[in-house]
Amino acid sequence: MATRIGIGLLGLGTVGGGVAEILQTPDGRHPLVADLDLVRVAVRDLNRPRPVELPADCLTTNPEAVVDDPNVHVVVEVMGGIEPARTLIMRAIAAGKSVVTANKAVIARHGEEIAAAAASAGVYVLIEAAVGGGIPIIEPLKQSLGGNRIQRVSGIINGTTNYILSRMAQEGADYDAVLRDAQELGYAEADPAADVDGLDAADKIAILAGLAFGGPIPRGGIPTDGISSLQSRDVDYATQLDYGVKLLAVAERADNTDTDNADRDGGPSLPLAVRVQPTLVPLDHPLAGVHGVNNAILVEGDPIGRVMFYGPGAGAGPTASAVVADILNIAGIQQLNDTDGQLDPLLAASSWRACHLVESSAIRQRNYLRFHTDDTPGVIGQIGTSFGDHGVSIQSIVQFDASDAGAEIVVITHEVSNGNLDKALAAITARPEIRGIAAHLGCL
Ligand code: NAP
Ligand code: HSE
Repeated sequence: MATRIGIGLLGLGTVGGGVAEILQTPDGRHPLVADLDLVRVAVRDLNRPRPVELPADCLTTNPEAVVDDPNVHVVVEVMGGIEPARTLIMRAIAAGKSVVTANKAVIARHGEEIAAAAASAGVYVLIEAAVGGGIPIIEPLKQSLGGNRIQRVSGIINGTTNYILSRMAQEGADYDAVLRDAQELGYAEADPAADVDGLDAADKIAILAGLAFGGPIPRGGIPTDGISSLQSRDVDYATQLDYGVKLLAVAERADNTDTDNADRDGGPSLPLAVRVQPTLVPLDHPLAGVHGVNNAILVEGDPIGRVMFYGPGAGAGPTASAVVADILNIAGIQQLNDTDGQLDPLLAASSWRACHLVESSAIRQRNYLRFHTDDTPGVIGQIGTSFGDHGVSIQSIVQFDASDAGAEIVVITHEVSNGNLDKALAAITARPEIRGIAAHLGCL
């Protein structure tokens, strides 16, 4: 008879509720699901209505009691936040229990410490749900794409902001109203500033880059810009120029910019350019067709070329699908009883080299800039001259609005380093006819 596997849930909100629902309805799913017992569940408020019915003694407000319960073999952390989530994960590992978590905020900041503790305890910490909701991207990066030399990982990895941008572009919907909808649908973080300010996407790209390039990424060094200050006028101008606007996260090799730092093994540390920002995406680019709560991650490597992972990036069902997949991986191994402290290297987290982030000034990209200027002859020429003086090549320059209130001049640059761009912008804004830079976005 198959061994029963006890599951302890830390949290029964959007994701925890979705997980409990799958565990309680095993019919038609993988047979291993029927071998999982939901033993104990930690919540903050015992009286809150729940989407699933659980025996009264299953719920507790004491998360340590869930971790310490001898009938709990796998701890599933879906409570969110940094603490007490981090401490509870470490406590489970110290007790020899494998952990499944959807908590990208904890993994992006404490992933190395957690992975090291898990390796020495001989347990797994699986994080498929932490990035891309229901999209399988973590295990493919760890396993299926392991033979590649990855060049770039980029994509739309926040469902809330993509849902907001899509509805604003398609219906002209109001930002605050759509954000409220995203919260009601269970897409947004407890503090939605994490979504709209780009912090959640920065957590996720730190995790993806760590897996793709093989070393921990300093989360605090990622230049991050969200959509809270994005203006609808820039979305309109982008549309007129045949682009959509997406909150994009990018991590790519920057081998040519600096190789000074030393690896943990004495070899060169891999320089990476990583960033999160609203970005113009050409309408014929695969990412431009990703709408609503969907996410998409493009992985470019040698020899695979380009592969895109697409699907629902947030919400109860999709995220629970990823959590349960991780539980099943662990349950399958526990039933085979073949770990004996020897972890499957492809399922376990591991780093094999050092990576470092290049200075923001060394990041190279195309840019969208909107200048607010006087409506006088020669302004476009002056902007062009200053860009040329600093080696910034212009792809297009268009005047959109001209009135007594001034003119709006939109420039799309070719690829240029942020350092050169900044020098050109300093020269441009020093000109008396230039009233200011009204918007600066990335451009694919
Ligand atoms: P949520 O709906 O706010 O649920 C959090 C749950 O944790 C609630 O049941 C809450 O109890 C419980 N909880 C929080 N602090 C606790 C504490 N100190 N002690 C005991 N219970 C506690 O959050 P969520 O949307 O499910 O997100 C959970 C995690 O999954 C987060 O890390 C999030 O980033 C991640 N995630 C979410 C999604 C998504 O689409 N929502 C997708 C991927 C990843 P009460 O119910 O009593 O308040
Ligand atoms: N708040 C997150 C998002 C949840 O909107 O993408 C999924 O990680």
